[in-house]
Amino acid sequence: MIQSENAATAGMAPGTLQGRVVMVTGAGRGIGRAVAAACAAHGATVALVGRSPERLAEAYDAIVDAGGAEPAAIPVDLAKATDADFHSLAQLVRKELGRMDALVHCAAHFTPLAPLRDQTLEQWMAHLRVNLAAPFALTRACLPMLSASPNGHVIFTSETHAEHPAAYWGAFAVSKSGLSTLATIWNDECERAGRPRFHVMVPGPVASPQRAQSHPAEDRSSLPSADAVAKRYVNILGEATTP
Ligand SMILES: NC(=O)c1ccc[n+]([C@@H]2O[C@H](COP(=O)([O-])OP(=O)(O)OC[C@H]3O[C@@H](n4cnc5c(N)ncnc54)[C@H](OP(=O)(O)O)[C@@H]3O)[C@@H](O)[C@H]2O)c1
Repeated sequence: MIQSENAATAGMAPGTLQGRVVMVTGAGRGIGRAVAAACAAHGATVALVGRSPERLAEAYDAIVDAGGAEPAAIPVDLAKATDADFHSLAQLVRKELGRMDALVHCAAHFTPLAPLRDQTLEQWMAHLRVNLAAPFALTRACLPMLSASPNGHVIFTSETHAEHPAAYWGAFAVSKSGLSTLATIWNDECERAGRPRFHVMVPGPVASPQRAQSHPAEDRSSLPSADAVAKRYVNILGEATTP
């Protein structure tokens, strides 16, 4: 279930996601934006979810300019959204796009690395809310549509230090570590239906705004691009879930 840094990166045919609706969080920049663009390039209609309306508009324009299907752009602050907000969001997608076949969680809250003794309760709650509780609540709100899809997939994006914890990764690593447990429980609960399928992607180092925060002194020119890692997400979404 966990896709590590060494996961296969073979390409999918351009029409692999034709006719499917894929929601992507964190779609305004970095890996989320690249995943949304890759899904659109493979034929999907994408629902772009992010905090900044300006960044979502840029992602929207890039997809339309590249010839992709017109996306939906939905600004949401995952640190503040309630169950009611997530249900409204799901209803909006149902009304505007008619279905949802996949949900890809890329949004993440990150603050500079620090020893646990210097991390506050407020910082912990923000990490837990955006990186773990919001992915749960948004997925739960979208589950009826995802379960109805013959190709339902949910991908949570985790982090190397969630599986290999180390000093200073504190709240960020702890919040991400819950995602594999969440995916396992949900796969177990959906086993009889066989769908949606829940996955955890660990992208490994990727040249993105978050990487500049976590590794400020690093030369990022040799790191894989967000576009390269996006192919790995498309590979999962292209897998059939119908037995
Ligand atoms: N880059 C890496 O090397 C790396 C390695 C391992 C795992 N990852 C994981 O991969 C995923 C994508 O990372 P990235 O490098 O692309 O990060 P990024 O460039 O920093 O993008 C993070 C995204 O999360 C969104 N976001 C943050 N807080 C939010 C909130 N409260 N509500 C809604 N959206 C919010 C941001 O939206 P706005 O732009 O609107 O603020 C942004 O689009 C993350 O889950 C990250 O932990 C990345």
